[in-house]
Amino acid sequence: MDLNLKDKVIIVTGGSKGIGLGIVESLIREEAIPVIITRNKASVDEVIEVFKTQGTNITYALAELTDPEQCKNAVQSVVDKHGRIDGLVNNAGVNDGVGLESGDYEGFMSSLKRNVVHYYLMAHYALPELKKSKGAIVNIGSKTADTGQGGTSGYAASNGGRNALTREWAVELLPYSIRVNALIVAECYTPLYEKWISTFPDKEEKLAAITKNIPLENRMTSAEEIGDTVAFLLSSKSSHTTGQLLYVDGGYTHLDRSI
Ligand SMILES: NC(=O)c1ccc[n+]([C@@H]2O[C@H](COP(=O)([O-])OP(=O)(O)OC[C@H]3O[C@@H](n4cnc5c(N)ncnc54)[C@H](O)[C@@H]3O)[C@@H](O)[C@H]2O)c1
Repeated sequence: MDLNLKDKVIIVTGGSKGIGLGIVESLIREEAIPVIITRNKASVDEVIEVFKTQGTNITYALAELTDPEQCKNAVQSVVDKHGRIDGLVNNAGVNDGVGLESGDYEGFMSSLKRNVVHYYLMAHYALPELKKSKGAIVNIGSKTADTGQGGTSGYAASNGGRNALTREWAVELLPYSIRVNALIVAECYTPLYEKWISTFPDKEEKLAAITKNIPLENRMTSAEEIGDTVAFLLSSKSSHTTGQLLYVDGGYTHLDRSI
């Protein structure tokens, strides 16, 4: 299916690794122009070099997204370079383990800044351009907002916030025909996931215990599967879909535990 995303300028935060990279690759297949925003120069340089040798139209801006000024400058640099923004994918974040017992005020507030405050800032700064293009926003979220995880209050609260902001912005942006949806992830093997699973004494055993409970095909979701669904949500093929939380998780969050 042609998603009509050719030459659309789409910002993807955290797009040089993991799920963000999967989204960027899907957008490239659709001939869109992804713009990666990340703080990670080494990984973005590597990614850009590979894509450029393939003749792909892709750019990036460096920003530490916990810094509001850097969010603003990153968006401005996209506008300076491309003259438009057609879509925003808020994706960067980290499951940072700030728990109720293990954490404190500063840790909790920092976790919100790492995981949800920049979602707001990026949408806020991109909005004037999204209004002109009648663009779309996709917020990446985590099942922890529904299921909890234990020991990660800041991340869970942020994911609850990501879901609430999806509905809130879908309503606020109706007059501009800007659609806002969330894609909720459960288990996708990425550098972030690798770091988390490595905190368990027997990583392989823990991994096997998780994947056996993923109803559809007892396997993790791939970044490509997430990327393709994000591309669909950004595209005019989903032109009457807004305010939705879409779980791309092989049924992990909602299907019967006993199956
Ligand atoms: N991997 C999973 O199973 C899973 C499950 C649920 C939700 N998610 C969500 O998916 C998103 C991406 O996760 P991932 O697993 O691909 O992570 P990842 O760590 O593999 O990649 C994230 C990228 O974002 C960048 N980044 C993170 N914080 C940043 C900041 N403050 N400023 C600039 N760049 C920043 C990192 O440098 C990295 O390049 C996260 O928001 C996470 O909550 C992932």
